[in-house]
Amino acid sequence: MRKITISDDDFLKFQEFFYRKTGIQFETSKRYFVDKRLVERIEATENDSFRGYFTMLRFQSSGNELQALVNLMTINETYFFREEYQFHCLVNSILPDLVARKKDKSPIRIWVIPSSSGEEAYSIAMCLVERWPDINDWDVEIISSDIDTKILNQARAGVYSERSVKHVPRNYLQKYFRETPAGFQLNDDLRSAVEFTRVNLMEAADVRSYRNFDVIFCRNLLIYFDDISRKQAAETFYDALHPGGFICLGHSESMSRISSLYKIRKFPEAIVYQKPGDRK
Ligand SMILES: C[S@@+](CC[C@H](N)C(=O)[O-])C[C@H]1O[C@@H](n2cnc3c(N)ncnc32)[C@H](O)[C@@H]1O
Repeated sequence: MRKITISDDDFLKFQEFFYRKTGIQFETSKRYFVDKRLVERIEATENDSFRGYFTMLRFQSSGNELQALVNLMTINETYFFREEYQFHCLVNSILPDLVARKKDKSPIRIWVIPSSSGEEAYSIAMCLVERWPDINDWDVEIISSDIDTKILNQARAGVYSERSVKHVPRNYLQKYFRETPAGFQLNDDLRSAVEFTRVNLMEAADVRSYRNFDVIFCRNLLIYFDDISRKQAAETFYDALHPGGFICLGHSESMSRISSLYKIRKFPEAIVYQKPGDRK
């Protein structure tokens, strides 16, 4: 069988296409990672060159191959209680600020994007149940979205490795997980507290129906985007938030460098960003 190679020109074509579709920009330093996965899909789809495969990728009406490739190319690294100070901020500062203004008592809506395998959304659910004294007075909806369908299925199954649960407090581990041969399985109550959906943040049609959120967690995604895609993401979140709603970003990400749409809120635990305007 002929060895499949990706030329510099192929790489550039693919880099531009994938960026346009997902907002993710692969640097040339990621070349080995990208080439390996491309060759894997070229072989799996029984193409014999990049050229044939790339044509299929662009013109296939179902979009199944693009989804398969996205599932392979995305970096899903995450774990429970990552950047935990933000969950303290949610419980001690953000939610008290929100509920003081939320006169209509409508559900508190939290959007976690990107979700990856669900650890972040489930950590939030655990923190609310364990640490937020008002939990019984409010209906909370947590929606967790990602572009990668494979990782979303893992999130729904809720089975985790030892590494992933390393930072879960011991008593939470005992209370909310069960050890199985496959790993630590989250209990059904917590699993049903989060709804997982497939969303490409860069696709207007995907995000159109995501509205009326009070808090958005968008951590460790914008680092893979360039300035134009980051700006588009900031505008999408603006439309998705209630006036007065909040965005939490990853520790190496800053909204001030991306967009002037938001106010900076310095809470004792963290800096977060707020959509201006007050919710009645
Ligand atoms: C490193 S994980 C971050 C997970 C979690 N938020 C955290 O901070 O630990 C990045 C995730 O972004 C997802 N992703 C990449 N591009 C996306 C896009 N355009 N729309 C939605 N999710 C995307 C990937 O599938 C991957 O699961």
